[in-house]
Amino acid sequence: MAAQINPSILSADFARLADEAKAVEGADWLHVDVMDNHFVPNLTLGVPIVESLARATDTPLDCHLMIEAPDRWAPQYVEAGAGSVTFHVEAATAPVRLAREIRAKGARASMALRPATPIEPYEDLLPELDMLLIMTVEPGMTVEPGFGGQAFLDIMLPKIRRTRELIKKHGLELWLQVDGGVSASTIEQCADAGADVFVAGSAVYGASDPAEAVRALRTQADSATAKASWACDH
Ligand code: DX5
Ligand code: ZN
Repeated sequence: MAAQINPSILSADFARLADEAKAVEGADWLHVDVMDNHFVPNLTLGVPIVESLARATDTPLDCHLMIEAPDRWAPQYVEAGAGSVTFHVEAATAPVRLAREIRAKGARASMALRPATPIEPYEDLLPELDMLLIMTVEPGMTVEPGFGGQAFLDIMLPKIRRTRELIKKHGLELWLQVDGGVSASTIEQCADAGADVFVAGSAVYGASDPAEAVRALRTQADSATAKASWACDH
């Protein structure tokens, strides 16, 4: 599978979301960060805006819920038109039941890990998921649109590698997404470690040509994947 690039609208102009979606036509998904000011120290947007954005763009929406009580809220994001819904395992009460409910409603089910959350306790849950998101910054801290995001945490690379090994061990189709500080200088390390879906906020919307930034990141990721041992030795 070619690397997928998901621009994060957290770095876009929230007053012009439909235009900002058009500015990255050719992106695989639009990454939508939902923050509730409880799970993370920032407040962004909710169900009504996701509903409007889903009507305004043909690019599928990848909703990343950085919220408490995802068991209660996540299904509403599927109904609002999201094609993929990610909940945080640290916030979910019943992650297996929630992943099944998201899938049953017709979206891809995805689970996110904060930087300090290990993958190993969740090995048996992986078949219930369509994607696993590994945070490569502390979530919720990217506040100012148009400003650089946080620095990429390269101490997360071993977790990405171990997760890719688990995916191979179980023969799963699971996508492995990285989110936070992904840019031209870090995307190759992520692809080499085993990521295949890349969220990029400031690296895309901070560029003078966001659509070109998406293409350039994809080219970089594809060539790093072609050289990566995880992608070759099957
Ligand atoms: C962080 C968000 C990210 C953020 C990434 O809390 O989950 O999706 O938008 O922004 P960059 O790519 O600028 O680090
Ligand atoms: Zn995100």
